[in-house]
Amino acid sequence: MKYGVMSMDVVARCSTTKARVGKLSLPHHVVDTPVFMPVGTQGTLKGLTTKQLEKIGIQIMLGNTYHLGNQPGEDILEEAGGLHQFMGWPRALLTDSGGFQMVSLLKLSELSEEGVQFEHPRDKSIMMLSPEKSIAIQNAIGADIIMQLDDVVSSTETDAKRFKEATRRSVRWLDRCISAHKRNGDQCLFPIIQGGLDESLRKECLHEMTSRVVPGFAIGGLSGGECKDDFWKMVTTSTDGLPEDKPRYLMGVGYAADLIVCVALGCDMFDCVFPTRTARFGCALVPTGQISLKNVSCSKDFTPIQEDCHCTTCKSYTKAYLYMLFRANHPSACHMVSVHNVMYQFNLMRSIREAIKNDSYPQFIKDYFLKLFKTPL
Ligand code: GUN
Ligand code: ZN
Repeated sequence: MKYGVMSMDVVARCSTTKARVGKLSLPHHVVDTPVFMPVGTQGTLKGLTTKQLEKIGIQIMLGNTYHLGNQPGEDILEEAGGLHQFMGWPRALLTDSGGFQMVSLLKLSELSEEGVQFEHPRDKSIMMLSPEKSIAIQNAIGADIIMQLDDVVSSTETDAKRFKEATRRSVRWLDRCISAHKRNGDQCLFPIIQGGLDESLRKECLHEMTSRVVPGFAIGGLSGGECKDDFWKMVTTSTDGLPEDKPRYLMGVGYAADLIVCVALGCDMFDCVFPTRTARFGCALVPTGQISLKNVSCSKDFTPIQEDCHCTTCKSYTKAYLYMLFRANHPSACHMVSVHNVMYQFNLMRSIREAIKNDSYPQFIKDYFLKLFKTPL
């Protein structure tokens, strides 16, 4: 599939599930999928330098339009020559549109057909984020993949009328985003499939959005506290309705178990603040689940977080040392665990890709869940 500056080649398929391995060619880098994209909301991954991310092997990371539009703002981003240049990141970037902040900053926003009006949490200044404004900021940021502004409703909201309104508005906003987009030559604009947990509304949204000429699709409005059964059903409905030859990005998903299942359901790209946020709370990700480095059981544990991990943290430091740093509230501890967690997600996705290529993905899933839940499936 070739679309402007992006192409996606499916290089391997699982013969049992809908999992596939792809090569996504973008202006700044080739991205191997399935991929997990770490989130650097404000143009930096909290606690990690871009050099460290490159060294780990990260091929694409995320920025956020709402936050970057506030600080440093569109003009400075433009003057800096875009975010790649500004933050010293030579690889691929994706920006979310700011739509999701409607849910996370609900109390500070006001919604209308025109867009979302946000009040800045500190200086109380007002920002009107319309589809046109979101695209203008994203054009100034210059990420390789940009997102439409969508009307996002929390998946646990119960008002069916509100879901219908939000889904249909997201389709209307998609068309406004497509018209406003000035850099089709080097930025790929993705629609975001909405529809809440309602199968027919998702299908309606899929029908509308797949009839537009776009290079890839995001699946939104999920992973907001709905039960797993609903979550999996909506992911399945979405991937069933999307074309085979374009990338599918499931937004806001980052737990290992969800990544493994949703790859089997046909998703190619994922993002979540979870691995880096949980690191700052002293929580390290390992194949058996999580280790809380603030737990007293680590105080005399002179082994690394994970014996077979090649990250700089596991190569140099013990759990006991990290325990001491967290006890002392030392910021370096957050940094060290973030390095490990980003490496953990990276290795997980690489082993997923290898298993699909060897056509042993079902066995990989069994082995992974056996380690995680310690009981045979
Ligand atoms: N991040 C997680 N879910 C969503 C969503 O539905 N829309 C947007 N824009 N971002 C998200
Ligand atoms: Zn490690």
